[in-house]
Amino acid sequence: MNERNIVIMPGDGIGKVVLPETLRVLDSVGFKPNYIHADIGWEFWCKEGNPLPQRTLDILKEHRIGLFGAITSKPKDQAVKELSPELQDKGLVYYSPIVGLRQHFNLDICIRPCLSFKGNPLNYVRKINNSVIEPDINVVIFRQNTEGLYCGVEWTNPPDVVRSALESHPKMAAFKNVPSEDLAISTRIFSRKACQRIVLEAFKYAQKFGYKSVTICEKPNVIRETSGMLRDESLKIAPDFPEIQLWETNIDAQMMWLNKNPEDYGVIVSGNMFGDIVSDAFAGLVGGLGFANSANIGEDCAIFEPTHGSAPKYEDLDPSIVNPIAMILSACLMLEYLDETEKAKRIRNAIETVIAEQKVRTYDIMRLIGGPDVIAQGAATTQKMTDAIIEKL
Ligand code: NAI
Ligand code: MG
Repeated sequence: MNERNIVIMPGDGIGKVVLPETLRVLDSVGFKPNYIHADIGWEFWCKEGNPLPQRTLDILKEHRIGLFGAITSKPKDQAVKELSPELQDKGLVYYSPIVGLRQHFNLDICIRPCLSFKGNPLNYVRKINNSVIEPDINVVIFRQNTEGLYCGVEWTNPPDVVRSALESHPKMAAFKNVPSEDLAISTRIFSRKACQRIVLEAFKYAQKFGYKSVTICEKPNVIRETSGMLRDESLKIAPDFPEIQLWETNIDAQMMWLNKNPEDYGVIVSGNMFGDIVSDAFAGLVGGLGFANSANIGEDCAIFEPTHGSAPKYEDLDPSIVNPIAMILSACLMLEYLDETEKAKRIRNAIETVIAEQKVRTYDIMRLIGGPDVIAQGAATTQKMTDAIIEKL
């Protein structure tokens, strides 16, 4: 294993804090690959006019596995203002490099586990009569990462060819009298191959890790074609996994159910936007951004990242106060991808023990408002949280 190469992309803000902390944990668990640093983020937008330089794409193409921290994105106009003077009038347009990476390497499968750690005060609880119940939540969302409503095929004031193509559909009659400049259209495109891939990977994952159900969470009763295709493909694939139940929910009902019986769900599969929504909702039940971890997996490249952003308001705090667990759990997903399942398990167990003991807690776990004074209020620094996890390994 020692000859393995992993590309590390800390990016911006707290990405530069939580990624190195995570490497300490990986080292302590005995995972010692070669790390290859790659440039990404705001600094390279400002200096080079490209937050995702070609050299980074080349490094990833060669090594195919990346650990990513977070990046900073800013609105278009502000982005141009921060470009170095010689780049200002070149017509450069900022785009998010993590979205760019997902597209460039066709990282079509996004995995977002939402696992509750006992003793986390941020966990979902339910009150029955006078007792408080804290169910164990262990849900893994498979979100299609490249298509659907986020695929970017959209117009305000659509060109005539688009308009007339749409008018071949009888339902467009409802918009017949709307002038094109008053029409905004965002397309929801699903391809059969992508549907098959996400459903198959979800079932394989459920099988590998012993989940009893795969739930297709869409809206096929209304969005018949796209949600319907995902559903159809799941009906074809499910019989190959007889030990796993196929469940179906509609996204709206799912948002209600996850507030009633989140512990009933195992693996959930959704298209891009519904997957985005349902994964954030589940993440909120198990600790929020300090815990939300993810994997972006394509056919020949995979990138692992926390869900959170660069949290610029904390980037200059020394010592740092942010929770490294989301990034560390993202690295666990990488270990599992590399079939280092035992190491991932040891790290998760160590996190579980630290959280259960309730002695070392970052400010978010204590429900404090972030700032330099949280340390005086008993919050652990980022480094101290990492140390506590390492100590339990
Ligand atoms: P954010 O995720 O950076 O922060 C949102 C809130 O969560 C803040 O209050 C922050 O303090 C808290 N938070 C985030 N990570 C935390 C951690 N590990 N421990 C404890 N608390 C944590 O999102 P925000 O503020 O909306 O965006 C900041 C920048 O990050 C923007 O430029 C945005 O575009 C970018 N962003 C990047 C993402 C990525 O790299 N994948 C994802 C989301 C936002
Ligand atoms: Mg989101």
